[in-house]
Amino acid sequence: MAHPTESVSLQDKNYFLVRRLHSLLGLVPVGAFLCVHLLTNATILAPGEAGGEFQKSIERIHALGPLLVPVEVVFIFLPLLFHSLLGFQIVFNSQSNAQQYRYGSNLRYTAQRTTGILAFLFIFYHIWQMHWFGKPVGGGAFELHGAAGAATGAMTTAVAIQQAWWIAPVYAIGVLSCVFHLANGLWTSLITWGITIRPESQRVAGYVCAAFGLVLAIAGMGALSGFRTFDVKSPPPVVTDGHADVTSHGH
Ligand code: HEM
Ligand code: HEM
Repeated sequence: MAHPTESVSLQDKNYFLVRRLHSLLGLVPVGAFLCVHLLTNATILAPGEAGGEFQKSIERIHALGPLLVPVEVVFIFLPLLFHSLLGFQIVFNSQSNAQQYRYGSNLRYTAQRTTGILAFLFIFYHIWQMHWFGKPVGGGAFELHGAAGAATGAMTTAVAIQQAWWIAPVYAIGVLSCVFHLANGLWTSLITWGITIRPESQRVAGYVCAAFGLVLAIAGMGALSGFRTFDVKSPPPVVTDGHADVTSHGH
């Protein structure tokens, strides 16, 4: 698979392995994180105390305490960064994807690239907006606990999403782009990894991946509508178990 240009020839040596790593990281951990994250966010719709289940889910993650940042960096940010950087390299270097055209329609391949770019823009904005990493530059709206240990996870997320009319539509586009990208990527990765070889098995896998994408899209849109309509004026419940404050990072 020699490339005619010198600029890519160096990378060609390990290109196969690099592409496999790109594919793997898109599935695990990044794809797995997306599933867990959207399902966690969908707990905003759980019955009972408003936002109570969502608060509990995030508290379980924050229970990692000082390990939270290293875990986030190693299992989310670095794999996402590698997948994104190589993703951009693939998008802007059309020579390196010629092999893929055999596997699917050009339309889907173009959609995979477009949603990758949209996903990147959305995730960048989203992390700035929610994660405390964004605090020094005016973001970092999410707070798990407020004064006196009040449970403010759902409230601060909802306030951030309801802050301006355009944020929810941006989220809808971002979430759906990520979900399409993962579901379609799952389908192509089954080919990449030699699991679906015959057209018949690729057709069946197509249905399975579409169903998977639909379920995830419903979870994501459900979560979004839950935060979009969350009553941000009601006072947040105070956490009384005494442990809640320990895992909080930002106040
Ligand atoms: C309904 C849509 C979404 C909502 C309500 C939402 C909410 C949140 C919140 C509240 C945080 C901060 C959590 C914390 O600091 O502990 C967060 C972090 C994050 N979100 Fe989302 N998110 C949504 C969609 C997405 C999508 C589609 C992605 C794409 C991969 C994504 C990726 C991330 C990442 C990478 C972080 C930082 C890591 C972490 O804190 O867990 N989010 N999100
Ligand atoms: C929500 C975060 C993301 C997830 C879950 C994800 C997941 C995946 C998966 C599973 C694949 C299929 C790999 C294969 O065919 O073997 C893929 C492919 C791809 N991703 Fe992502 N990705 C994400 C974000 C991004 C970003 C931010 C970019 C940046 C442009 C990107 C660019 C690409 C490209 C270009 C491909 C096609 C690669 C190829 O032709 O082999 N992805 N992604």
